[in-house]
Amino acid sequence: MTIFDKIRRTLQELGVSDAQGVESLFAELRKAAEHERAELVAGGAPQQAERDGLCKALRDRWLARKGGFLSQVDENWLKPASKELKPVVGKQFNKLRRFTASLEFEKLVEALPFQQETAPQMELPLGSGAGRPVPRDLTLPGLRRPLGSIHPVTRMQREIEDIFLRLGFWIESGPEIESTYYNFDALNIPESHPSRDDWDTLYIDSKTVLRTHTSPVQIRAMEKYGAPLYIIIPGKCYRHDNPDSTHSPMFHQIEGLAIDEDITFADLKGTLDFFAKMLFGEKVRTRFQPSFFPFTEPSGEVAVSCFVCDGQGCRVCKESGWIELMGCGMVHPQVLRNGGIDPEKYSGWAFGLGVDRFAMVKYDINDIQLFFQGDVRFLEQF
Ligand code: FA5
Repeated sequence: MTIFDKIRRTLQELGVSDAQGVESLFAELRKAAEHERAELVAGGAPQQAERDGLCKALRDRWLARKGGFLSQVDENWLKPASKELKPVVGKQFNKLRRFTASLEFEKLVEALPFQQETAPQMELPLGSGAGRPVPRDLTLPGLRRPLGSIHPVTRMQREIEDIFLRLGFWIESGPEIESTYYNFDALNIPESHPSRDDWDTLYIDSKTVLRTHTSPVQIRAMEKYGAPLYIIIPGKCYRHDNPDSTHSPMFHQIEGLAIDEDITFADLKGTLDFFAKMLFGEKVRTRFQPSFFPFTEPSGEVAVSCFVCDGQGCRVCKESGWIELMGCGMVHPQVLRNGGIDPEKYSGWAFGLGVDRFAMVKYDINDIQLFFQGDVRFLEQF
């Protein structure tokens, strides 16, 4: 009975009832996989299409979800194994999986030699075809190796980072799993603030959350470096938001923070206006409107005149002429104090923007979900 007949039967049917028996069955199977691979490499194939086909067939024979050898082992040996034998079968099965993965059946196509007569002989692994002359035809088309591309959100993030790096800011980061102290308390967000409700925040336990914004890193950086401080903080944030065309439960923010002596709202306006012009073009104008955040006082919302229609109204700005960019404000004195910085001596400004939303505006994408679906047809456009 070959090993391939054996994997169609259960261990009980094969009369295997101890660890040693199991181990030797698996060893036989690993040897068979290695042998088939060596055979294929040694055999070669004259045409690329045929080479591709042979590799795929070998891969499917072993790894196909339906009917592949590994799935037969799973069905016939592992699942029905007795309670005593199951741990050893499981361990051996994992070993077999790792082993077959290491054989890289898919990539084998690159190792397969062409069969022609002229070029010098190559050294071959063991197998039936070993020793045959195996030249390469350099006139055949090469193997296609598709290159990936930078994800649009990453691209947007880097563009934003570059602008602030040129202004002398540096990049800081912090944990995505955050304490309620840094995410809320230290930022002057009292227990009663609506963003503490379950609706917005994903709690891990009563004192730990998935951070809802990048602002907690403001406090961490103040504690770590003190003042003066010029940083931007890119990173993932999480909210209990239902996915729709502009909301994702996981999204990306960039926080900006500048603390020094004599920092005023004029510095904030000047920096963000410069930033908007660098990102969207010299012509854009910025607009600051009052807003509220517990950790900034005064607080504002920044919008930029639509860089597509120059404020006339179009699809990108939803006919308003303006595109909302971010929340910002002067760092609240209590927040400076919580970060160990003396508000009598230092002042600062901060902003927080949504990178995914920026990318949607800049690349004219109407659904945020496209960023996270991993569809190559979408991603390869960037
Ligand atoms: C904040 O998170 C403040 N921490 C920003 C801030 C920092 C203000 C410093 C002042 C000083 P807000 O909740 O508005 O603010 O979120 C900021 C941005 O994150 C939004 O403008 C939006 O672009 C993005 N955002 C929020 N929720 C989502 C979501 N579910 N999906 C995608 N983007 C989101």
